Amino acid sequence: MSRIYEALQKAESDRKLDRSELDQVLAEPEPLRPVMVQTAVAEVEEAGPVVAVVEPTREAYEPEIVRTGLTFSNVARYAWTPDVDRLPALQERGPGVEQFRSLRSRIYELRDIKPLKSILISSGLPQEGKSFVAMNLAISLSRHKSSKVLLIDGDMRRYTLHQMLGTEAHPGLADYLSGKATMVEVMQRMAESSEGTKGVVANLANLTFIPGGNGGDKAADLSGNPRFAELVEAVSPYFDWIVVDSSPVLPVSDAVNLARACDGVLLVARSGVTKYPVAQRAQSELKASNILGFVLNAVANPPQVGSYYGYDAETE
Ligand SMILES: Nc1ncnc2c1ncn2[C@@H]1O[C@H](COP(=O)(O)OP(=O)(O)OP(=O)(O)O)[C@@H](O)[C@H]1O
Ligand SMILES: [Mg+2]
Repeated sequence: MSRIYEALQKAESDRKLDRSELDQVLAEPEPLRPVMVQTAVAEVEEAGPVVAVVEPTREAYEPEIVRTGLTFSNVARYAWTPDVDRLPALQERGPGVEQFRSLRSRIYELRDIKPLKSILISSGLPQEGKSFVAMNLAISLSRHKSSKVLLIDGDMRRYTLHQMLGTEAHPGLADYLSGKATMVEVMQRMAESSEGTKGVVANLANLTFIPGGNGGDKAADLSGNPRFAELVEAVSPYFDWIVVDSSPVLPVSDAVNLARACDGVLLVARSGVTKYPVAQRAQSELKASNILGFVLNAVANPPQVGSYYGYDAETE
């Protein structure tokens, strides 16, 4: 029995919901993929100490120009103001950062089995923590061995990643997909002078970001545009990881469209909130993609990372 099954089942019984619906769904043949890792509720008051900023050299980004003709030297730099309260992965230590290190370890293990670079984050319904997980996973990946990470806000309806970074939302993915901007024009990186909230110097030097832009009513059409697959393919040689946030998969089809261009999909379920049938239907909607597993988000009392997996959490 998977942990997500147990957790979701507990959430159902805690809320004293009608058991008949759950029992009916559990009788269906498709089980949920095992949970990958449980993320704690963010420990706001433990927001991190000052950390060093390591600026990647131009050489690190440019030797691949010959291969695709892209150049990153003119990627816009903005003075980001990262909201450290919503970015536990920026911390040096504490349960928040450990959970994302653990998730990162699981992803590295999966990459050892099968090629994996582009990962779409989705869930069944709004507010389950997709953007929180996408952003913190991207930061955690970028802090490991100076990996270069591209974070894309693929939710062109309710784009929020720019708020977490404290930066502009335009031009963004919607502008690129509608042909109004080039892929390099919608990318941004952190200016050297950036400072996070509470005076924290955020180590985001290895992160490149594409905000959502405003897809509005056209978001579904835009997400089906082949320019997204072209973007992922063209930038892949430059990055170690590409993390794509997305819309909830049950109300709208955008995430299913974007997932076709990605190597894997990570689903989020929110502890005590997401019902088992919702998680199961989300998995079903994305069954054409390579589903990596579930992240059980915002667990009130998560197990110790080391004891849960039987090995100590790694350091950066
Ligand atoms: N583990 C967590 N600890 C603390 N706060 C969290 C956690 N996960 C999510 N939140 C908060 O819950 C709210 C919803 O999270 P988030 O925006 O990531 O959800 P979402 O699934 O992306 O929503 P939407 O479908 O609207 O895009 C946000 O205010 C976020 O900061
Ligand atoms: Mg979101």
